[in-house]
Amino acid sequence: MNLILMGAPGAGKGTQSAKISEKYHIPAIATGDILRGAIKAGTELGKAAKSYIDAGQLVPDSVVIGIIKEYLASDECKNGFILDGFPRSIPQAEALDEMGVKIDVVLSIEVADDKIVERMSGRRVCSCGASYHVAYNPPKTEGVCDKCGAALYIRADDAAETVKNRLATFHAQTEPLKEYYSKKGLLVTVEGQEEVADTTALVYRALQSFEA
Ligand code: AP5
Ligand code: MG
Repeated sequence: MNLILMGAPGAGKGTQSAKISEKYHIPAIATGDILRGAIKAGTELGKAAKSYIDAGQLVPDSVVIGIIKEYLASDECKNGFILDGFPRSIPQAEALDEMGVKIDVVLSIEVADDKIVERMSGRRVCSCGASYHVAYNPPKTEGVCDKCGAALYIRADDAAETVKNRLATFHAQTEPLKEYYSKKGLLVTVEGQEEVADTTALVYRALQSFEA
């Protein structure tokens, strides 16, 4: 299954892509995680991306398109993949089409803006990629990752002002992709629920008809 996971910042893309990855045994490629990894490692890519991420803006298309090309060409993706956070603009979607990548389904997780702000303020993340919420999805031990035992931290771009900018960027540049994929007959939407497990149940049901 070649899947694109869409949704506003904080809609639960990372949370649900981990569940989909587990069920279907396909890797998740999260451009945000890749970019944050590059910032942490101090690479040229990280240096180029940092100011955009800190401002809640999109990193230039050419940069992320290059990253995706490389990942999709790898062996790991040959039996399917989840794209979490890509494409995020019409030019990125067109670039994906030009690469000749066949997409089976575009799943959009719908969550209202006021809910997003609440979710972001309680999010705690781990450098291994795991994501928690202090109230909705707490780790077993406060501040410690269930998966790898490392200390959890708050993402720099989860500051309230940056979240506002990320939401504005989403509505202006990413949301038009829903129409783009709807016209291709690929769009499926799921309402994000109060409980993570309830959203997962809806996501699994939505993906059932696309199973190989
Ligand atoms: P990225 O890292 O992709 O951030 P994002 O899209 O803003 O989304 P998030 O990762 O913040 O949220 P999520 O939807 O994964 O939600 P999560 O599962 O964590 O991108 C960061 C930046 O990188 C961008 O701003 C941009 O600058 C750059 N970038 C990345 N890709 C790019 C691209 N293609 N082009 C250009 N620039 C790019 O959940 C959020 C919280 O809610 C968690 O605390 C979670 O526990 C909780 N939660 C989840 N589900 C539920 C539920 N059902 N009920 C209650 N709580 C829940
Ligand atoms: Mg994420």
